Amino acid sequence: MRPWSLLAVFLALAAAAAAGPVRQGQWQEDAVRDFTRRVAPAGAGADPYNCQPFNFTQRVDHFDRKNMRTFQQRYYLCDALWRNRGPGSREPLFVYFGGEAALDGAFASVFTDQAQAEGGLLLFIEHRYYGKSYPFGPKASYTNEGLRYLTVEQAMADFHAITLAVRKAYNVPRSAKNVGYGGSYSGNVAAYMRLRYPHTFHAVLASSSVVKFLFGTEAWERNKYFSAISIGNSIAEVGGARCKQAVAAAFGALQGPLWRTKDGRAQLATAASLCPGFTLDSWDAVEGLSNFFEGTWWGAFQSLFSGGPDDNPVAQFCSNLAYFPNTPLGVLSAVSNFTRSQDLNNAACIDRQDAQKAYGVDYPRPDIEDDMLPYTYQGCLQGFPTSALLWSAPPSIFGRYSMPPHRFAAWCKRVFGIQRPLQPPRGLLFNQWDYLAAGNIIFSSGGVDPWRPGNVLQTLGDTVPALTSAGASHCMDLDAANSNTLASVNATQALIKAYIRKWVY
Ligand SMILES: *[C@@H]1O[C@H](CO)[C@@H](O)[C@H](O)[C@H]1NC(C)=O
Ligand SMILES: *[C@@H]1O[C@H](CO)[C@@H](O)[C@H](O)[C@H]1NC(C)=O
Ligand SMILES: *[C@@H]1O[C@H](CO)[C@@H](O)[C@H](O)[C@H]1NC(C)=O
Repeated sequence: MRPWSLLAVFLALAAAAAAGPVRQGQWQEDAVRDFTRRVAPAGAGADPYNCQPFNFTQRVDHFDRKNMRTFQQRYYLCDALWRNRGPGSREPLFVYFGGEAALDGAFASVFTDQAQAEGGLLLFIEHRYYGKSYPFGPKASYTNEGLRYLTVEQAMADFHAITLAVRKAYNVPRSAKNVGYGGSYSGNVAAYMRLRYPHTFHAVLASSSVVKFLFGTEAWERNKYFSAISIGNSIAEVGGARCKQAVAAAFGALQGPLWRTKDGRAQLATAASLCPGFTLDSWDAVEGLSNFFEGTWWGAFQSLFSGGPDDNPVAQFCSNLAYFPNTPLGVLSAVSNFTRSQDLNNAACIDRQDAQKAYGVDYPRPDIEDDMLPYTYQGCLQGFPTSALLWSAPPSIFGRYSMPPHRFAAWCKRVFGIQRPLQPPRGLLFNQWDYLAAGNIIFSSGGVDPWRPGNVLQTLGDTVPALTSAGASHCMDLDAANSNTLASVNATQALIKAYIRKWVY
């Protein structure tokens, strides 16, 4: 199966319409979700924000003075909305921290909207090792040796250095503050930047951050079951309680006694449309298939409504249930049908490799072209999460699924040669008191986003609000508002802008 990484899934509608889904290899990014939004899609006419691409000569290693190697890091600057550049101006520099995906252009965000109304300069920085910002070229950067400089601390030092350089090059007055923002993994980075570089970043938006999901930490231990539970609740919210119950019964059948007998395995294989040769002959195989099926809802809720109010495959699944026998095995075939249509381009059956439990001995290294390669390395080195690392247990309707740290760690050692895997960034494991002491941090979440349990969900004080957009998915509040934007997201964005206005302008 392909674990979901978070933020790589920003949606550009034009690209979504154009991309014909292909049958996915294990690690391939879902083509429909793999692109970056651009302010001005090719052929759409003039860019009203005047965004230009640039390179910055960046240090490979910020923490070793003797290492003078550099590389070219991509960034984009948009200055058309920066109206008052003179001394005393308070129009901020908005800095987008790129996440675990190529940043092929700037994009229209909640802050391009704010700058449109109130003025500001916009900077978008690609994260090292993604897109074109590789330290040692497109191949050597992704060998185990080449990946050595991929740490969140190095990436944060990059963002800091470019921000200071841009301020200098553009003569941004001292009175104008920097506002940082990011989503998902880079939402973590946004929160971390406020604590680590408080004098540079005056306020930040951490959209759908996953600060509680660093694999192997105490916070992860406490929260690791909640995504599975939350997906079940979201199915009930979107498709009704009966749909949730039906899915629970299907998973009950899949994980129940049937797989222990030859006849039972045959029944399950037929219901789930497994390809010949794929037998549920071990608990690992049962867990792998369960997690693969769960992943379809994960993906659906992570991007629900991103194509507009009708973009709701879960509601469609729930209404399609009527076409399947009203038995646990009947629903299991509906579940398989859903997964094959969403994630396998309507394949007739499911292969063993499609549904193997993640990070076993046969689990491959991601392809070199895939953003999942550097991001999985970040997971191995510092514990940044993918969906396959989170657990399930009743009352989750997906039954049991576990990913013990020793299993993942062994895979990381073998595949990436990391001697001491899963060392969370010690200096960045902040708690609510740290956030409150820093202040000016907005944590925002989507109500049905499976990543939501990894975020800060309770307002810690006036300067650390936690905002939730009901019914919204992952990082939805980052996007500029348009006619498809949910009312709840519009309301969240109004609050975000009001906080920034109060703290910055
Ligand atoms: C940035 O550097 C790369 C590689 O050195 C080069 O191909 C690209 O044209 C440069 N981009 C800009 C905007 O200068
Ligand atoms: C899923 O079920 C629907 C309704 O029965 C059917 O039209 C469709 O062909 C099925 N898709 C797959 C991939 O089996
Ligand atoms: C959200 O705001 C946008 C931009 O103002 C608007 O076009 C859209 O209709 C709003 N959404 C709803 C549900 O009101």
